[in-house]
Amino acid sequence: MKILGVDIGGSGIKGAIVDTETGQLLSERIRLETPQPATPEAVGLTLRELVRQHDWDGPVGIGFPAAIQHGVARTAANIDKSFIGLSVADYFAEQTGCPCYLANDADVAGLAEMRFGAGRDHNGVVLIVTIGTGLGTAFFTNGQLLPNTELGHILLANGLEAEVFASEAARDRDGLKWKGWGIRFNTYLSTMEALFWPDLIILGGGASAKLEKFSEQITVKAPVVAASFLNQAGIVGAALYAETQLPRA
Ligand code: BGC
Repeated sequence: MKILGVDIGGSGIKGAIVDTETGQLLSERIRLETPQPATPEAVGLTLRELVRQHDWDGPVGIGFPAAIQHGVARTAANIDKSFIGLSVADYFAEQTGCPCYLANDADVAGLAEMRFGAGRDHNGVVLIVTIGTGLGTAFFTNGQLLPNTELGHILLANGLEAEVFASEAARDRDGLKWKGWGIRFNTYLSTMEALFWPDLIILGGGASAKLEKFSEQITVKAPVVAASFLNQAGIVGAALYAETQLPRA
């Protein structure tokens, strides 16, 4: 099936048409800047433009950077607070004229990796961490997702919130080299390991393509691998998620 997969992030809104049978992108990936402030109206207009540029009128799967319960945003760390409580799926459907299916961005990236990527056929506890403006997490056990884990917001032993200390945005903000940032990120992964003992850790988001630049700083026991889809896991996973939600004929 063909579905437009969209990954809404704190800095970019990226989309491509995805073949959900294979996980392949069937169109070029288009990236538009996330409007600032990222209000529902401004993000909706950008999404509408992305849909228009794909000449698309079918279902749209969306990974969104917030806890999402039944289409409603419950948090808003890196987008405008006015999203909280909004039925974002319905709102975007109105704005685009397309049926929209929405879930947390890290959760959908995890779906793509578990189905086609680095977590394929993995039956243990798998943690996916997406590294971007925020830190997103998804947990799978025996292939089943526990949604909305929001573990980028835990407090580390240094008293700082993990995503404030070790996200891609923190690396930019503090002008860190990969090594220096890797030490911080390792503090985060070590904390996650001490609390949850995953069998496998998969990294997504922009930094996943740079894993070799900070892998020496990573000391956790679990294997740490880059997402097979790298930064595109969110787009592919959003389409896979939408497919599971489509009304059955
Ligand atoms: C949000 C999560 C999101 C993550 C990555 C965090 O700030 O709270 O919902 O998955 O950023 O975008």
